[in-house]
Amino acid sequence: MTLPPASIFEPPDLIAALPDRPFEFSQAAGREADAIVAGPATALFSRLIGDQESESTWLVARRVLDAFLDRSVELADDASADQIAEQVAGVRAGLTTTIQSLDVASVGADARDAVLRQRAVLGFMTGCWLDVLSQPATQPSVIVNRLFAHHFTLRGEANPRRTLHYRRRQRLEQDGVFLPELAAADFLAAADARPLTALAGSFYLALSRLPANFLPELVGVHYAVLTLGVDDLLLGLDPMIGEAELRSVLAAYLELAGPAERARLHAGLRCAIDLEREHVEMLAELAAWHAGLPLESKVAAVIARHAPFAGRHHKDVEVGGRPLAQTFTDPELDLARFLAEFRESKQVRRTPDGLSAFVRAYKFGGPMFGIFSEREAALFAGWVASVQAGERPPIEVVQNTVGDERADARAAAIRASRPADVVVAEPGEPSDRQLFYRLVNIENFASTLPLAAQRAEQLFEAAEVLFTRGAGGRYTDASFFSYTPEALYARAEQVYWDKLVKPYKPLTEIPDRDEVVFLQTTYALGALVDATWIHRTANLGRSDRRCDAALFSIYADEMGFGDLRKNHITLIHRALHSMDIRLPHIRDAAFMEQGDLPDPLYGFSLHQLCMALFPDTYYNEILGYNLAIEMFGLGELRLHEVQKLNHYGFDDCYEQAHLTIDNISAGHSRQAADIIVAYLDEVRRVLGDAAVDREWRRVWRGYASLAYFVEHALLKQLETESEADEDLSLLI
Ligand SMILES: [Fe+2]
Ligand SMILES: [Fe+2]
Repeated sequence: MTLPPASIFEPPDLIAALPDRPFEFSQAAGREADAIVAGPATALFSRLIGDQESESTWLVARRVLDAFLDRSVELADDASADQIAEQVAGVRAGLTTTIQSLDVASVGADARDAVLRQRAVLGFMTGCWLDVLSQPATQPSVIVNRLFAHHFTLRGEANPRRTLHYRRRQRLEQDGVFLPELAAADFLAAADARPLTALAGSFYLALSRLPANFLPELVGVHYAVLTLGVDDLLLGLDPMIGEAELRSVLAAYLELAGPAERARLHAGLRCAIDLEREHVEMLAELAAWHAGLPLESKVAAVIARHAPFAGRHHKDVEVGGRPLAQTFTDPELDLARFLAEFRESKQVRRTPDGLSAFVRAYKFGGPMFGIFSEREAALFAGWVASVQAGERPPIEVVQNTVGDERADARAAAIRASRPADVVVAEPGEPSDRQLFYRLVNIENFASTLPLAAQRAEQLFEAAEVLFTRGAGGRYTDASFFSYTPEALYARAEQVYWDKLVKPYKPLTEIPDRDEVVFLQTTYALGALVDATWIHRTANLGRSDRRCDAALFSIYADEMGFGDLRKNHITLIHRALHSMDIRLPHIRDAAFMEQGDLPDPLYGFSLHQLCMALFPDTYYNEILGYNLAIEMFGLGELRLHEVQKLNHYGFDDCYEQAHLTIDNISAGHSRQAADIIVAYLDEVRRVLGDAAVDREWRRVWRGYASLAYFVEHALLKQLETESEADEDLSLLI
């Protein structure tokens, strides 16, 4: 079939937005999403950060974006980057004044601590919208790569101790604010996150789930959040990316954008400005609330925090004629009444040592020792002293409702949101070409996720056939072995030397031109989704492990760190063009009709795309696959291709890049082995040796699953043998 020239893709990729497409979800996802958005804001946040693999989370993300992004207001969409910058600078000036008023001298240590904790939730997330912006549908877009360079910077150039997140965490720790990891179960509680904070965080998370479809809005959000720099102002840190660079990317985007995209950029800009302004106002309210809190109210808050855990521990202790065990399990617990009775009780009365039974109880040696933090204990001590001094102020228990009105409105908007572009559609049984299209554009076809998971699992299982016979592979050795770091390195070396390097002899005869081009087309589909298998690992909340940063480092390298000249997707396009192979972009529906790349090769790329969508479930398999595919870039096969390409004057940049960058002494292949070793070492330290065996088996089936696609001769032989066995068993 001849394609219309309009559908042919030619770098540079100047997209400012993907084409408008509906978002397909299954009926079941709709019901689950309803249940998720009906819950509290903190549960919504936890769901969005904890689950990056299920359809319903993606639908929730779509609904959150719909509720927050107001596309209806028409703003002057021809504003230049300088004009936008001026507008944002004006907002920043206003916020700066408020933020400066939140220093410890003005608001006191307690309020400052509360403000820092509260803001950390958003501060740790900055830039998460760039996590998977680079993906098969968006590469090698000019603007996506400009933004990828920012992503690389914010990720500390793949050094986990240099990331924006880590810098902020360190700064907070200097101020005595210690928080668990962002995706930890107790993170929001430790930060004492208000519903409004959780909702603002949910917006940024939602954007990080659908970044390709919301590229224009994302550019606006990115510029606004980083330029406003609320966290840096609050923490006294220098920005990691200066305003000039941010503005230059904004200007680059405006040049690519038409009126519709500009309007969408403004929607993102406005949304982020509103969220940041709203949050800073909330921080100021929070500080004021803390500063103005009567002592009794602070005490009541501590009691309220601990009461649910007190259970029946207090046995016979009575206050106000009622056993504490009863008081604290009462769902209608009246804190003001309890405090009024407690301050008159014998537990608070001064004892001969100058303390009280209550204070003695929580000191060392007392039955309540270790229950309260130092800060809480100090608070109680102050309160008991004031009671003993005869102070009897009216007891007013002030609830913390900071930001709740805005939060209620925002939560209601999410519940009410029914984006017009969400459609209910099941994937059916797509052909390989249709499946490829859906997986490349997965944001629009989330209903395909269960199918992708099933396909990946089947492949990994099937590949285990090579655990026993894989030694006979031509380019791989997937035969299973007991894991030790030494054994893994030895296997990698052995495959490299025995299978990839030693058999190499320069070709004495070069196949004809058509054959050379044909063989290249059989590799091209895989190359067009180069590095896809790791494009979703190491996202927000998943970059705590050493190996995550190393995986990100490989991915960043594959994308040229945002430099298009070094980007592997650019390289493969260059190579294909030199052979006069002109294709639509893989994200375009027209690609389903392409006639240059052979059909039987789709399975390989589909496998890569499928596993990539489950970076949590198939983490181990991805690590093994990563080693296999990085090694596949080396040795004889590539060297022959280079020779053939050179012979006909084709561009060998793609092959050359892989021969060097994937090298086994320090390149991607070596890094891939190191990553497995680092990961299994962590498993061993946390879960012990038995767990290592289990996890290792899964890593190795990831390796085998690449072999399963490249060892045609071996698999054919195994198939013939098993058919022969079957025939034999029939005879018996
Ligand atoms: Fe590559
Ligand atoms: Fe590589």
